[in-house]
Amino acid sequence: MREGHASRTAEQNALFRALESSLPERKRLFDDPLARAFLGSPLALVGRLGMVPGLRQLIVGYIDRRWPGVRTSVVARTRLIDDAITASLGEHIEQLVILGAGFDSRAYRLPGLGGLTVFEVDHPDTQAAKRAILERVLPAPPSHVRFVACDFNQRDLESAVAAAGYSASAHTFILWEGVTNYLTDAAVDATLRWCARAAPGSRLLFTYVHRDVLTRPSQFVGTERLFASLAKAGEKLTWGIEPEKLPEFLAERGLSLESDVGAAEYRERYFKEAARGMRGHEFYRVALARVVGPATR
Ligand SMILES: C[S@@+](CC[C@H](N)C(=O)[O-])C[C@H]1O[C@@H](n2cnc3c(N)ncnc32)[C@H](O)[C@@H]1O
Repeated sequence: MREGHASRTAEQNALFRALESSLPERKRLFDDPLARAFLGSPLALVGRLGMVPGLRQLIVGYIDRRWPGVRTSVVARTRLIDDAITASLGEHIEQLVILGAGFDSRAYRLPGLGGLTVFEVDHPDTQAAKRAILERVLPAPPSHVRFVACDFNQRDLESAVAAAGYSASAHTFILWEGVTNYLTDAAVDATLRWCARAAPGSRLLFTYVHRDVLTRPSQFVGTERLFASLAKAGEKLTWGIEPEKLPEFLAERGLSLESDVGAAEYRERYFKEAARGMRGHEFYRVALARVVGPATR
């Protein structure tokens, strides 16, 4: 991230969500009515133009040609995660922790979250920008949301969330979307170990990239331009793991892997037939794990 600036990739995700939300109800995968409010110049203009039906198609077509698979992967995984959180409400979770929340608006738009405590944890620069926008657009401060400013690379997550009222004995759903790939090995390790200290049975849903995209990027469609854009944003990919190593990696940290799906699979789940024409970003994955107990190593 660029010092003193909100995450650019968080804003891009908000743009993809705004564009999806501008589709008619029967065609969109979700509605994120706050997404457009998070866009600064020049993406705010793109978001506004995206509300015009013919222009929306042109904009989306341009984005998908220039950065293949990124938008469709973000849109499908947004819905996948909405569904996972909604399903977890039936398991009586008491807290939702959103790590690296960016411009995630689930705390404000998903039904049923008002009765939980939601902790939005993020880098201080991104969180400051989000809070300023929320103050402007929400009718009242959200009483169920607690904001925790924290840099994962500094590894002070435990004390920061505890100070905000997080309870390690409460049944918890932890979401860590779009973040691990920007962190150091040590930050990923420390954060997973913190997650594993949640009450047994709690869940962690996180995204990660296949390690091959870091070591052999040319194997994947569209990485040259994607990497150039990420470098410009100061948000290069730094961490990834081979999917076959993930179960053991998590088990060593007190977590049991329950599911692990790649972008091609979750796009097909939600976009159905249309997913056949979608290429790129296949290295991007969504994993769901359960807390089994303290780490073994
Ligand atoms: C790609 S955005 C994802 C945002 C949101 N979770 C989503 O999926 O739209 C990456 C997020 O990670 C956060 N982030 C990146 N590096 C971080 C760090 N070292 N500590 C805390 N947050 C960090 C950024 O502030 C940003 O909100």
